[in-house]
Amino acid sequence: MTQNVAAQDARTVPDSNPVSWQAQDDVLLITINNPPVNALGHAVRVGLIAAIDALEANGSVVGAVLTGGGRAFVAGADITEFGKPIAEPGLNEVIDQIEGASKPVVAAVNGFALGGGLELTLGCHARIAHPKAKVGFPEVHLGVIPGAGGTQRMPRLAGVEIVVELSTTGKPISAARALSAGIVEAVDEDCVAAAVTRARELAAAGEWTRVGELPSPSVPEGYFEAAEAAIVARSRGQISPLLSLEAVQGGLTLPFAEGLKLERDIFMRGLTSDQSKGLIHAFFGEREVAKIPGLAPAAKPRDVARAAVIGAGTMGGGIAMCFANAGIPVTVVEQTEEALERGLNLCRKNYENSAKKGRMTEANVEERMALLTGTTDMQTLAEVDLVIEAVFENMGVKKDIFTRLDAICKPGCVLATNTSTLDIDEIASVTDRPQDVVGMHFFSPANVMRLLENVRGAETADDVILTAMLTGKRLGKVSVLVGVCDGFVGNRILHQYLRWASILLEDGCMPEQIDRVWTEFGMPMGPFAMSDLAGLDVGYRIRQEQAATRSGNERYVEIGDRVVEMGRLGQKTGGGYFDYIEGSRKPIPNAAVTALVLAESARKGIERRDFSDEEILNALTDLMTNEGAKILEESIAMRPVDIDITYIFGYGYPAFRGGPMFRADAEGLAASLERIEAAYARTGDHAWKPSALLKQLVAEGQTFEQWSKARAA
Ligand code: 3HC
Repeated sequence: MTQNVAAQDARTVPDSNPVSWQAQDDVLLITINNPPVNALGHAVRVGLIAAIDALEANGSVVGAVLTGGGRAFVAGADITEFGKPIAEPGLNEVIDQIEGASKPVVAAVNGFALGGGLELTLGCHARIAHPKAKVGFPEVHLGVIPGAGGTQRMPRLAGVEIVVELSTTGKPISAARALSAGIVEAVDEDCVAAAVTRARELAAAGEWTRVGELPSPSVPEGYFEAAEAAIVARSRGQISPLLSLEAVQGGLTLPFAEGLKLERDIFMRGLTSDQSKGLIHAFFGEREVAKIPGLAPAAKPRDVARAAVIGAGTMGGGIAMCFANAGIPVTVVEQTEEALERGLNLCRKNYENSAKKGRMTEANVEERMALLTGTTDMQTLAEVDLVIEAVFENMGVKKDIFTRLDAICKPGCVLATNTSTLDIDEIASVTDRPQDVVGMHFFSPANVMRLLENVRGAETADDVILTAMLTGKRLGKVSVLVGVCDGFVGNRILHQYLRWASILLEDGCMPEQIDRVWTEFGMPMGPFAMSDLAGLDVGYRIRQEQAATRSGNERYVEIGDRVVEMGRLGQKTGGGYFDYIEGSRKPIPNAAVTALVLAESARKGIERRDFSDEEILNALTDLMTNEGAKILEESIAMRPVDIDITYIFGYGYPAFRGGPMFRADAEGLAASLERIEAAYARTGDHAWKPSALLKQLVAEGQTFEQWSKARAA
């Protein structure tokens, strides 16, 4: 029986309801339209209940199709509602109502179906995806678990392995993978039309699957023990992946309704944890750093259709690969044909390694290499829109390059430097267009690390800042805008805690203790393993150059220099502060380094003492807080969140702690200041000179975040 009831049933209630429905002959098409990502906020939940009521009430329709307007199906629960009392109906209620409907409901997954969005599809009676759709359970990145039946329905539908994978890694999968995993039953370019057909078929057959009624699957003996061990090994102290596992495992032996209750309890445990607060801060922070206050409203980013990178070393090559990966043609400039060939070959080798690992096809390798052009003639850069200089850190060399670029590049070309320490304004001063000069500081390896520290010089134009930020986004980076100072935001803070880690060696610690404290805190590596990875010789050379001008008042630890002089340059020579077995990055304490540390303390007449783990952690994190506060007070970073995101994406700072400034707020600024003042009184070291801003905030009883919000208002 088909009837056209479109005219009478095309409505949207109430006016602001982001869910609309319209009969297409005998099938009701329900569309969620809640830009930008169709999050399942309260109004959407109310709208969905109303839509299902309409389905039940309308005798002319035999079933429904549920889809999303715009590019997303549904990106999940509305994260802005987290932490607030839940306004009824809750998502579970909505999904129950869909699942229990007396007519079949088919999900047409037109785009992202994430978290609650995927759970919504599991309440439907069949799922058909667009080929470009992606499904996943990213809740783990917010410190929670799928909380609307995902850990209970998904195992029943598609088995335990896939739900454990999705909910503990948070990584979305493609429509094709969802099809082979049994999450969707078909993939179709016109997923809405296919879903309409499917709804009719189910209605005609008079039976359809309610996933919640399926039996629980079984798993091989020892499966959960092995899964838990693997999760603990990779999650560096983050608890949410284990919470997901607990919900899946617990649900297998419970009736469905009780499984849902268990899931809800575990979800709430996650949501009320400090880790979840940190992760939610990091989620919104990642988006916040793209918003730059104070730029001229009329400023628009410049077009970047073609880029160039000067220098084909590790950094230059990595940056060039970022452009090729984003489909932007890029010219790589080197001084000699040999250096150019070496650099381009390294790019090819990197791509081929990715192809070997199945991350891209051979055709992709060729496509990307075709976007990389090499030259030794800088004159060919006349037509590019953006140049990034990535040669070694020497002001004279950089000034020479910028003088030449100024003469060669067309007007409006953005002239960027990848310097990690040098003064952008001094570099800009050799050009006649300092407004076009900006810092674009990539982190090594540039084609892997997500952070891009864009540095605004005194004269950098607003549209150049926007161009650098937008280019970062096109390259898949998280761009943070900072100001000029030695080391900018990231390395300036890093310098403080690396230096203090060395002082702790002399005063009584060993590298392995400090590194353990730091990795237990959640950092990917300790200060000494990180130095070994970076190579100890570069810092050594810089320190030798600085020796003549170094202030006698500054405490200087020579252990690092002696390690280099022992021929131990880090991982590349098989050892630095630690030893490394070939093919492994696991640091192993070295007896000669231990002896050296003891000898250096003795030589300086320092009476070594034991340091507790807490003391070490406090010292390193207090220095981050103090230096971060100085960076804010000097307006080098615009907001505390810019520092947080710099550390999370550039240095692997654990996102579940929200970033150094967020953590400082959470731990209490007053206690931190008290320790900083005590350390300053004890050592007189400039690193501990308390930041004026920190003192002000403690005096006023404010947090960094409150201060930042008040300034923005
Ligand atoms: N809730 C509220 N706002 C959200 C949101 C959500 N679930 N997802 C995205 N947004 C907002 C962003 O904050 C951003 O706002 P802004 O423009 O004001 O900064 C805007 O939507 C656009 O987001 P993006 O800039 O991230 O857009 P992209 O196109 O780059 O990415 C996306 C789209 C992949 C969907 C990405 O936004 C994303 O990963 N979102 C989060 C998905 C998620 O974590 N879902 C699970 C939520 S928890 C849940 O569902 C619990 C349930 O199990 C009960």
